[in-house]
Amino acid sequence: MNLGKAPGIVVALDLSLAEAGALVQKLKPAEDKIAGYKVSSLNAIEHGLKATVAELRQFTEKPIIYDHQKGCTDIPNIVEKQVKLAGECGVNSFIAVPLGAGGETLTAFVNACKEMRILPIVLLEMTHEGATSYLKPQTPNLVFEKAKELGVKYFVAPGNKPQKILELKAKMDEDMFITSPGVGAQGGKCERCVEAGTDYPIVGRGVYEAEDPVKAVEELYEQAKNGYSKR
Ligand code: XMP
Repeated sequence: MNLGKAPGIVVALDLSLAEAGALVQKLKPAEDKIAGYKVSSLNAIEHGLKATVAELRQFTEKPIIYDHQKGCTDIPNIVEKQVKLAGECGVNSFIAVPLGAGGETLTAFVNACKEMRILPIVLLEMTHEGATSYLKPQTPNLVFEKAKELGVKYFVAPGNKPQKILELKAKMDEDMFITSPGVGAQGGKCERCVEAGTDYPIVGRGVYEAEDPVKAVEELYEQAKNGYSKR
């Protein structure tokens, strides 16, 4: 399981399930530029993850990435159960945010993903002001090193902090990838973050609030391609 050829746009479906389904259908003409759909905890709380995946699967074969917002910050035993349940609901990938939980939890997360054959994606740093205020400066790197040791290939890094992306990219192997939120609404520029190393920009409001979501995806993809060609 992977997110396909980079660059590609991950569309965040932070919408009601009916709206999310309608958006996925509307985006069909631009689906070759979409790496996957990110399903949110909002959908899971409202309808349950199984029903959410079943609804969206009617309209797309693209990877469905589950973002528990901010999942994987619990004891290893619970995280393992979260991942297994999500896998049984049909998701293809799960985003973990283990910054507050440590290596044992991260290990349980990755092992459960492997068992369920879903793609583990690990967040290293968030985008918003103050996101790192309770963390040690070395925390993202400690998480990266442990995740790398566990065989994780996909990481989330802040799209509005290109310098952080550059630093991460410099440490990564050829077969590792970065996916980044923070593009658009939080000031990140798609072309700039892809030039720095992002492979898959994550965009929610920039697509679903656009007057023409297909055009928005096409424009983001063009920007991503320009950034990619400048690496
Ligand atoms: P927007 O509407 O801002 O949605 O394009 C971003 C999506 O990414 C998720 N997410 C984050 N967003 N900083 C963010 O701005 C982060 O560190 C982060 N981690 C995940 C967010 O939940 C929404 O679905």
